[in-house]
Amino acid sequence: MIIQPLNEQHLSVMMAIEVSANAFPWSEQNMSSCFGARYFHFGMFDQAQLVGFYIAEMAGPDFTLMDIGVHPQYQGKGIASQLMAHLVEQSQTRGAENIFLEVRASNQAAIHLYNKVGFCEMGIRKNYYPAATGNEDAILMGLPFNPFAM
Ligand SMILES: CC(C)(COP(=O)(O)OP(=O)(O)OC[C@H]1O[C@@H](n2cnc3c(N)ncnc32)[C@H](O)[C@@H]1OP(=O)(O)O)[C@@H](O)C(=O)NCCC(=O)NCCS
Repeated sequence: MIIQPLNEQHLSVMMAIEVSANAFPWSEQNMSSCFGARYFHFGMFDQAQLVGFYIAEMAGPDFTLMDIGVHPQYQGKGIASQLMAHLVEQSQTRGAENIFLEVRASNQAAIHLYNKVGFCEMGIRKNYYPAATGNEDAILMGLPFNPFAM
């Protein structure tokens, strides 16, 4: 397995992973809008097969993890943990002071993953996401690289 940069040519495979891994996946239009100078993207490859990816946005010193996903057949093998470690390293190299993200309150796998990397809960957005019945809260999480400067 190897982590490599992604570009728009990987969009359809990223979307296939997105759709297979999420009950409420991003649209292709949404994902397509996350290519450009403001973003960076990396994927985990098993031979030539993309099996997981992340997308990050850079806004000055504040970076955002826009999306991360691992194909269901490859989940539970530490792939997202490796991708998150890569995101942290890339963000520090690119001058980030913080990484932020939003996650569904019910997404225990992702929340566990983010806590493991060092993200802390910073707030709640009530009823932010559509859910099977009604709406669901988003938890805002952050990872400051120099917490004493905040
Ligand atoms: C969240 C996701 C990326 C994790 O990918 P993964 O490759 O399976 O993650 P890892 O194997 O690196 O496991 C990460 C940690 O989460 C834990 N975990 C995995 N599934 C879990 C679950 N259902 N409940 C609680 N913890 C879980 C693992 O045990 C591991 O923790 P550990 O190292 O302390 O044992 C994957 O489940 C996914 O693609 N989900 C759908 C997309 C999604 O929710 N993205 C996040 C959007 S904010």
